[in-house]
Amino acid sequence: YNRYLEYIDGELHLEGVSLKALAEEFGTPLYVYSASHIRDRVRAYREAFPDALICYAVKANFNPSIIRVAREEGAGADIVSGGELYASLLAGVEPSRIVYAGVGKTLKELEYAIKSDILMFNVESRMELDVLNHLAESLGKKIRIAIRVNPDVDPKTHPYISTGMKKSKFGVDIKHAKQEYQYAGKLKNLEVVGIHCHIGSQILDVSPYIEAVEKVVDLYHELVRSGFEIRYVDIGGGLGIKYKPDQSNPEPKDLAEAVMPALKGVDAKILLEPGRSIVGNAGLLITRVEFLKDKGHKHFVIVDAGMNDLIRPAMYDAYHHIVPVVKRDTGYIKTDIVGPICETGDFLALDREIQKVERGDYLAVLSAGAYGFAMSSHYNVRPRACEVLVEKQSYKIIRERETYAYIFKGE
Ligand code: LLP
Repeated sequence: YNRYLEYIDGELHLEGVSLKALAEEFGTPLYVYSASHIRDRVRAYREAFPDALICYAVKANFNPSIIRVAREEGAGADIVSGGELYASLLAGVEPSRIVYAGVGKTLKELEYAIKSDILMFNVESRMELDVLNHLAESLGKKIRIAIRVNPDVDPKTHPYISTGMKKSKFGVDIKHAKQEYQYAGKLKNLEVVGIHCHIGSQILDVSPYIEAVEKVVDLYHELVRSGFEIRYVDIGGGLGIKYKPDQSNPEPKDLAEAVMPALKGVDAKILLEPGRSIVGNAGLLITRVEFLKDKGHKHFVIVDAGMNDLIRPAMYDAYHHIVPVVKRDTGYIKTDIVGPICETGDFLALDREIQKVERGDYLAVLSAGAYGFAMSSHYNVRPRACEVLVEKQSYKIIRERETYAYIFKGE
């Protein structure tokens, strides 16, 4: 999962920092991230795509300290909201390395991004083209845009995170893309500079990328022939990571090998928008065992992290590997690992075999760096977790645990 994660004398450490010690110091639920892993992942992308701009998809984890680590390795940012723009700027990402996608950008968000002078707007509809053009005109600006095209390929992942299929709300149908480009080309305050596509997330087989990129490249040539100066081809994010022990994931270099042949002859800067494959396995969630409950036919381990902290198992039936923070020779048990929230869907794992645990033990939920904290909520009035970043045997708190007063500040 993460080469910085290891047991030292039976105790789990991340970058040489004891996770038990962190849990005791900061309490649980606690997100812990490895900065070195993030650096390695950004570098792997940069080595695989030396001339490309890697825009870290902030949606995966918006903590500015995390964005900053990616930025330090040369990444820009891919954002989907004004809030993510704010976080990226806080982290010091240069606006000239920020791209902005999303089907429902509001006027306020668009204005903020125009004034920030970001690299490119990935526009998802004709109405958005009109609104952007109008707004740019009223602000006296000319702005760079790409059109997000929907290549209609099946990325073979969970339906909720497949974004490039015909029936999805994203982008414009690639078959009608040329008309949209021609329309955009006539709008005075827009400068048409790119093509954008993104087919989905947690993609473990690179072949759908080949199909998508080939379609995008056909469109590129067609547009160039029609006189457009396409300077950026953004092929999105979506590369999957290992969640299950027996799973293997494609590396950035596998993606590069797959798509580079199709991109030959494209005279434009390539952009990528990886999120999960940068931070997913950088992070884990430490939770404490509160109670054990044996119903005869079923055993439950009740922990202090709930679906408000990590919603992926409930929402996508996602598997997260769970390991003990301290190893013991106590044998194994088959159990559901559930949270404290008042819903049957509040589980981290079902029918999982784990080392026998006791009240007060800590468990580590792996692969929780992406779409973990970012999707957390206050459900059941649960303050959101604390976040800690470790690097080379040192650690720092990057987000305090929330208090009740914080939650009700605006009431
Ligand atoms: N670019 C665009 C336009 C996207 O929509 C996404 C993700 C990405 C880049 C980054 O994809 P990544 O490299 O992280 O796969 N909450 C879900 C994942 C939703 C992904 C949505 N879009 C989950 O927990 O699995």
